Amino acid sequence: MSAHPVDTETITTAAERLRAGGVVAFPTETVYGLGADATQENAVARIFEIKGRPSFNPLIVHVGRPDWVAGLAKPDGRVDALTRAFWPGPLTLVLRRRDDCPIAASVSAGLDTIAVRQPDHPVASQLLTATKRPLAAPSANPSGHVSPTWAAHVAADLGDKVDMILDGGPCTSGLESTVLDLTQHTARILRPGVIGAAELEPLIGDVELHSDAKGEAVASPGQLAKHYAPALPLRLDAVDAKEDEALIGFGDIPTADFNLSPFGDLEEAAANLFATLRAADDPERFSGLAVSPIPEDGPGHAINDRLRRAAQGR
Ligand code: TXA
Ligand code: MG
Repeated sequence: MSAHPVDTETITTAAERLRAGGVVAFPTETVYGLGADATQENAVARIFEIKGRPSFNPLIVHVGRPDWVAGLAKPDGRVDALTRAFWPGPLTLVLRRRDDCPIAASVSAGLDTIAVRQPDHPVASQLLTATKRPLAAPSANPSGHVSPTWAAHVAADLGDKVDMILDGGPCTSGLESTVLDLTQHTARILRPGVIGAAELEPLIGDVELHSDAKGEAVASPGQLAKHYAPALPLRLDAVDAKEDEALIGFGDIPTADFNLSPFGDLEEAAANLFATLRAADDPERFSGLAVSPIPEDGPGHAINDRLRRAAQGR
């Protein structure tokens, strides 16, 4: 399956396939998602099967408007302020499921919670509006691989398994959404993203950072380290490359084989990260990946989070 450029007719066809239980890959501002109607168990089962995703790892439900949330999750006083400030956008909220929540149980992996977000991409919002259903969508990569930020990545990884791929160009944000757990009194970041505690705290007070290192039960199972691992070993804070390594630079690094952002712009680096890891991850050309230091600043936190997981996760 190659990717379709998007027009009104393509959206209508994609919406029909989704309502009939199909699986359609679509762009969001973060990464490409592998979408299915979240209310249909059979459709959702296909997502788990196509990705080879363990059934204990829950999926994010994408909504077309913030007011769709009320029909899915129990009310929480913090949701309004957060959605007004950050939706559509790369913030996923984990909430308690309503008792009559229409979302398939497998989407929540048996938990009594549900993760929701409104994506900020015209193709995603047209698709949600046309389908009129919440869409369950994990990143459109086989479980354990780097997330796709181009339609061509999806075509290469899953092209023969999905009903349709909508090509909306490269993802502009490039890192998966921040996952924020609102099921406890104190909000907790389960997965760091471009929206961090500094942006969230003025609206909802203290925000904790979930740490895998604390040895807690896995709160967001998708965070298992191997989920970000390239095939080649990856080394952080590299000043230069050892013999056959690819040097992935940040800032003005003349010897770099690839550069996340030659002018040292962290947002640009975030947008380029996954495509660069994919391009450099070529065992025929290189023996390993060496990445320049990335400042722990704004999107730098989430970039370093993904890089550390990629470095540990083999
Ligand atoms: O940016 C994104 O979030 C992209 C685009 C497509 O929206 N989606 C994405 O989905 O990254 P996925 O499935 O690759 O990652 C979803 C993360 C996983 O870490 C999963 O464990 C967590 O969200 N998650 C989903 N539902 C949850 C829940 N009810 N409780 C805790 N964590 C949950
Ligand atoms: Mg993923």
